[in-house]
Amino acid sequence: MTDLAFTITEADRLPDAERAAILADPGFGNHFTDHMVSIVWTREAGWHDAEVVPYGPIPMDPASSVLHYGQEIFEGLKAYRRPDGSIVTFRPEANARRLNESAERLALPHIPESLFTEAIRQLVRIDADWVPGGADQSLYLRPFMIADESFLGVRAAERARFLVIASPAGAYFTGGVKPVSIWLSSDLARAGRGGTGAAKCGGNYASSLLPTRIAAENGCAQVLFTDSATEDTIDELGGMNLFLVRSDGTLLTPRLNGNILDGITRRSLIQLAEDRGLRVEERDITVREWAEGVADGSIVEAFACGTAAVITPIQRLVGDNGLLVDFGDTAPGELTMSLREELTGIQTGIREDRHGWLDAI
Ligand code: PLP
Ligand code: COI
Repeated sequence: MTDLAFTITEADRLPDAERAAILADPGFGNHFTDHMVSIVWTREAGWHDAEVVPYGPIPMDPASSVLHYGQEIFEGLKAYRRPDGSIVTFRPEANARRLNESAERLALPHIPESLFTEAIRQLVRIDADWVPGGADQSLYLRPFMIADESFLGVRAAERARFLVIASPAGAYFTGGVKPVSIWLSSDLARAGRGGTGAAKCGGNYASSLLPTRIAAENGCAQVLFTDSATEDTIDELGGMNLFLVRSDGTLLTPRLNGNILDGITRRSLIQLAEDRGLRVEERDITVREWAEGVADGSIVEAFACGTAAVITPIQRLVGDNGLLVDFGDTAPGELTMSLREELTGIQTGIREDRHGWLDAI
């Protein structure tokens, strides 16, 4: 199963000049490379028909389960071009493991980790010219799995498809590494106890879109969700994990409480901070603790982290009743930027990969 051979169908490639124009300023998620990966699963035959094909529409029966009951999961990781021209991905086996954890929760099939990582390698190799090398640039990889059995009964589908598409990426937030304002969603929740909050499934993002729109209407770039049971305990942002920094250098981040994503950036930053001898507390943190800590000077920095967002400094937290937290011109904080520099340095090959996180393509 894991040594499934890939059939390759070459695409008509985008002309060099057009690709170069895109790579000069790719934005996030706007452009797609020449190829994609597709692998089919059925209950009877398991994983089969592994293909690298030209990027394009996929056949979809209107009765496909994903269109009705949202049986979908996805991942996000990046390929980086190093100064010597070589290409690496960051911790792809962690994404493979997490996809399978999401698959478990969404009653989708597990995919062998080696098939997942081979699919990534195949796509990055064939579309290597699409991996940009500029500052803060990368090729964002989006593996995902959909249930595509044509059947309207409500049960786990017996047919699924795993795909990988790729999109050249610059900064996720327009404006580069500028501190952002975030919106505290007071009544709209993203996840609840026993729900799908810890899975990376499309439904979680669907439920974050209205609060994200409200955030934007209030001048904020992202939404902060709290635990729907306690209302004051911080979970995470719509697409990122959250860290606070105390004045003694201790990092605080919400524990993996079953509602939040086990972020690979989060996990990597915990390791890098501990390597520096810093304390990291993974525990319940309330909005009140954050606001009071900033007011009395014991909390001095905050940042969001994730594959797309990398590390994004937070300047303000805003809620229904106005400003809850404001770091003013102290944002971005020193530790935020130094961890950002260290992580991106490892990813782009400027710093030593002492934990063996990089996978050469
Ligand atoms: N939380 C959510 C809801 C996300 O969508 C993401 C992004 O993938 C993260 C956290 C950060 O996860 P990672 O660092 O693995 O990208
Ligand atoms: C990622 O960082 O990979 C994500 O999935 C976040 C998404 C909202 C772009």
